[in-house]
Amino acid sequence: MTTFATSFGSDTAASFTDVEGDSAPAVAASGLGAIDTAGGRVSVSEKRMINARADVNQLLPLKYHWAWEKYLAGCNNQWMPTEVSMQADIALWKSPNGLTDAERQMLKRNLGFFATAESLVANNIVLAVYRQLTNPECRQFLLRQAFEEAVHTHTFQYICESLGLDEGELFNMYREVPSITEKDAWALQYTKNLEDPSFKTGDIESDRAFLRDLVAFYVIFEGMWFYTGFAQILSLGRRNKMVGIAEQYQYILRDESIHLNFGIDVINQIKIENPELWSTEFAAEISGMLAKACELEITYGRETLSTGMLGLSAAQCEQYMHFITNRRCVQIGLQPLFEDTENPFPWMSEMMDLKKEKNFFETRVIEYQTGGGLEW
Ligand SMILES: [Fe+2]
Ligand SMILES: [Fe+2]
Repeated sequence: MTTFATSFGSDTAASFTDVEGDSAPAVAASGLGAIDTAGGRVSVSEKRMINARADVNQLLPLKYHWAWEKYLAGCNNQWMPTEVSMQADIALWKSPNGLTDAERQMLKRNLGFFATAESLVANNIVLAVYRQLTNPECRQFLLRQAFEEAVHTHTFQYICESLGLDEGELFNMYREVPSITEKDAWALQYTKNLEDPSFKTGDIESDRAFLRDLVAFYVIFEGMWFYTGFAQILSLGRRNKMVGIAEQYQYILRDESIHLNFGIDVINQIKIENPELWSTEFAAEISGMLAKACELEITYGRETLSTGMLGLSAAQCEQYMHFITNRRCVQIGLQPLFEDTENPFPWMSEMMDLKKEKNFFETRVIEYQTGGGLEW
């Protein structure tokens, strides 16, 4: 790939080099402006995560190979929720003694959070992040991610329909269950900042607003809040309950771990390219965001598992959230917030972090892994 970059020449003029230090015109960031036929060819050195002058319609030469590789990994993970049989789940859900009251409550609150969370994440990508990330290989990943979020929302529609759940109850939980409302409202304050059509990066204040949005959605929403939900459902699946939903969550988890890692790479690359943004005060502010998000998640865990269920309690979810929060801190260059915390769900760690787990439910995952050449 280096030869590709060289063949374009690293010293060719960029399209927007008229005024040194001037931010690129808005048309350059959108990719929908007039074509500058007098501009020079794009060189790798002009490509940047934010505020790039290089043409965003030209994918090659690639600069951020990690973004392209994640796009390819996402494409290899193709799945649809309707391919998973729900027969066992339907029978268990309809059987009066199939699940305990605690398990039913957990399941509904869990589904209720995800049912709208996937749409919130998708809207943030499409309406806020996409406009500000001025790099074509990252945008290629975002386009793939947007489709995956649609598949995830589809999963909750399919589960709702299969089990005959009250769709009004499920899709209104984000208004009606306080601990869900609080999480979503907290994250929304960061995307609202970017919703203004006139918002664009290019000064320290708006660049930091964009970083806060990336932290709120990639690190916290997808990287912390989704993980309690995964642990709850996969814990049921391990006991052979609601195995269809557990299998769907396994696919979602596989997708989300790539989304999370993409977000972390984006944040860290922006930090490298714009070191002035990450001041001591700003780092402390981001640590505070993670601490608050952890607290919100612990409250949600208590409301979801008020009486606890076999193999899973609110206290364990709290410990798990401390463990996950510490990991996320380190991944974006912050000090851990909690004392060294042991992972209460080591089986989750094996699945996500070490990617060793195979044939978890002995269902179709192996077929996908073989067919798509994937590794966990
Ligand atoms: Fe998702
Ligand atoms: Fe996601």
